[in-house]
Amino acid sequence: MKHFLDLAACSKDELRDYIDLALQLKAEWRAGGNQPILRGKTLGMIFQKPSLRTRVSFEMGMKHLGGDAIMLGPNEIGLGVRESVPDVARVLSSYVQGIMARVYDHSDVLQLARYSRVPVINGLSDDYHPCQALADILTIREHFGALQGIKLAFVGDGNNVAASVALACAQFGLDFRIATPEGYEMKPHIREQALEIAAQNGTSLLMCTRPEMALADADVVYTDTWISMGQEAEAAERIDEFKALQVNARMLGHAKPDAIVMHCLPAHRGHEITDDMMDGPQSRVFEQAENRLHAQKAILARLLV
Ligand code: CP
Ligand code: NVA
Repeated sequence: MKHFLDLAACSKDELRDYIDLALQLKAEWRAGGNQPILRGKTLGMIFQKPSLRTRVSFEMGMKHLGGDAIMLGPNEIGLGVRESVPDVARVLSSYVQGIMARVYDHSDVLQLARYSRVPVINGLSDDYHPCQALADILTIREHFGALQGIKLAFVGDGNNVAASVALACAQFGLDFRIATPEGYEMKPHIREQALEIAAQNGTSLLMCTRPEMALADADVVYTDTWISMGQEAEAAERIDEFKALQVNARMLGHAKPDAIVMHCLPAHRGHEITDDMMDGPQSRVFEQAENRLHAQKAILARLLV
């Protein structure tokens, strides 16, 4: 049984297949609708944290493919609090055909997968956001028509999104650069994973603190919130540490003139990104958000059929 927990655990062929299938399902949807390949199947969606894109794109993705989804919010099942993670996995997987979970501790999603009888999808943990990165690759491929040789610069926090985007770049053959303040780098074990995959695939991975260095010659400029879910108490300190890394017109000037701007959302306009970058002609932010739907469907189609 296959799960979708992080991009390092997927083969290159599997990942390419997800993107090809997402493009196919997107075209099919736009031409009138998808085939009901998940008829009679239900996805259980566990959320320990809030969500707009992940929740709605998975739920709509299931419906478009003829299936159904059940939302289990933070106050409902009490993952690991009201009931242990293995017990939740054992019980929930006897009712549904797939589980998608958004958690704090990445080990919770690993435990769900270990004890579940049905496929488990990571809908964001403190360590990774693989569904997001897959949709991002889809967006880059649609914009540039290819992935090989594209240079992506991530400016901001070395967080879950940065980790999955770094792994996605390494797996799909893009060069990845990241500028973070000191002390906010990607976690060492994730950096090692990404470096190893990048070396196997002949792509480069650069970590630095100066945004101009990351952005030089970049085709894609990517940022995410400076304050991830669960870090709210550190907000003031983080805003101060990250303020030199705002993606604005001056910052974008360091990248290629036709570079695109990406953000996984939700954005904190005026902090990590300015309005003119979000809403300007180089922004692909809302295409990214829509592509969550199409990328999600590809994952569901491969894991649940
Ligand atoms: N990008 C993303 O995962 O958005 P949500 O937190 O709204 O799901
Ligand atoms: N890094 C952010 C991503 C939100 C989609 C967070 O974890 O809150």
